[in-house]
Amino acid sequence: MTGPSSNPVRAAATAEEVFGARQGLFSRAYTRDEDPLNEARLKELFGPQAAMEGPLAPTGIGRRFHGVDVAQRLRAEQAAYLIDALSMHSIVVFSGQDLGRVSLAHFERFANHFGAPQPVPKRVTDGVRDAVNEALAQIAGSEDERLEHLPIPAESSAIYTVTNVEPVTEGSVRVLTPRPRTGSPTRQDISDKVRCEVLWHTDQDHERIACNTTMFLVHKHPAARDSASGNWLGSYPEVDYDTFYRHPDLPEGMEHFHTTDARLVRLRQRNLPLNAETAFADTVAAFEALPGAERDRLEKIRMVKYERPGDDVEGRGYYCPLIRTNPRSGRRMIYSPVYGSRFVLQDIPPPRIEGMSKAETKVFLDELEAHCLQARFRYNHLHAEGDLVIWDDYALLHCLPPVKIGITDLEDARLYYRIATKGEPALTLPRRDDREWLLENLNDTYTSPAEILEVGSG
Ligand SMILES: [Fe+2]
Repeated sequence: MTGPSSNPVRAAATAEEVFGARQGLFSRAYTRDEDPLNEARLKELFGPQAAMEGPLAPTGIGRRFHGVDVAQRLRAEQAAYLIDALSMHSIVVFSGQDLGRVSLAHFERFANHFGAPQPVPKRVTDGVRDAVNEALAQIAGSEDERLEHLPIPAESSAIYTVTNVEPVTEGSVRVLTPRPRTGSPTRQDISDKVRCEVLWHTDQDHERIACNTTMFLVHKHPAARDSASGNWLGSYPEVDYDTFYRHPDLPEGMEHFHTTDARLVRLRQRNLPLNAETAFADTVAAFEALPGAERDRLEKIRMVKYERPGDDVEGRGYYCPLIRTNPRSGRRMIYSPVYGSRFVLQDIPPPRIEGMSKAETKVFLDELEAHCLQARFRYNHLHAEGDLVIWDDYALLHCLPPVKIGITDLEDARLYYRIATKGEPALTLPRRDDREWLLENLNDTYTSPAEILEVGSG
């Protein structure tokens, strides 16, 4: 506990809190192989049908696993392999899941190994499944293409629906992935429109412990392609700052994404995906590409970050290193160098770098973000139905793709289930997180629900 006389700026989260206590790969304990993550080891653990594909991205990150059934309970050595694979490769995909058999309970059990699932507030999830089903019924063409949102386990608070399938009531669209300034558009307002936010970020990067993973179970991904361009969106979308960034009271210096550094604005928008891929920038590769002296300099830098509006004025906040090292892989990464990513959404003050003014911090972070967003570190990941994709939030920046909204055709539908986790990976379940730690860092508690632990293999 911090007393009234102590520094109100809290200590930085330790690497143990962020990544877990383990030093060195978990899977080293289970294998004497030279490379404990090679394909032979994968087959030994998961069966001869298991196979590995990759790298997926030009920087060498990303692996796709085939023949790994996420509905199966993981043995400790299997979990060790998969947690290490994520630590080493930043993005792992488990393809070919049968969503007639793999339930959201299976998904959540699998997710439990990577960290404590972050509870999603009930006010966000309430009624979403019914609303998606209502919208699907409105746009479904025929019985045989009937798609339904999977049932949500009764005790689960971890599953968030990412979708552009939104019901229309009396001409107004119910926005299910709300942004503070979207309001409730009418179908007329937004049909044929594209939601394009261009907000590069790390999930929960305003909190002292950000998410260590984010994962999607992909139920439906847009299949429609424009005949002329061959891609989903057709032409390159206009970035709609007015709908998504309009802010009633922008303070000086926060005119933000569209009026500050023209080069950075161009980089943020360049190569944005046109098929609803998730856009990534590899911050491990971006760090490694810097000269040695620059890497040494960055490793000494500490930011003061803020969690709530007004924290900067009131002197609250927490310290956060700019460079993080994953203790399992030894990989060093630039941690979320985006000035003010949370301001447009939640009015959370931008970070300040120790020894720099606000203005200097902005110049410094903008430059670092621009470095990370260069084409050579980028990767647009195309999702496929039946994929379970997990990414390492610390080792990447990500950006939502431009997405069609107000859709009227099932071929344009995007329906993913999302879980994000924090803290220590677990080789065995149930998780045994410290309650106080959870309350402090998830703003809630999480216990692996019995219903999830007990679900069969499908
Ligand atoms: Fe995100």
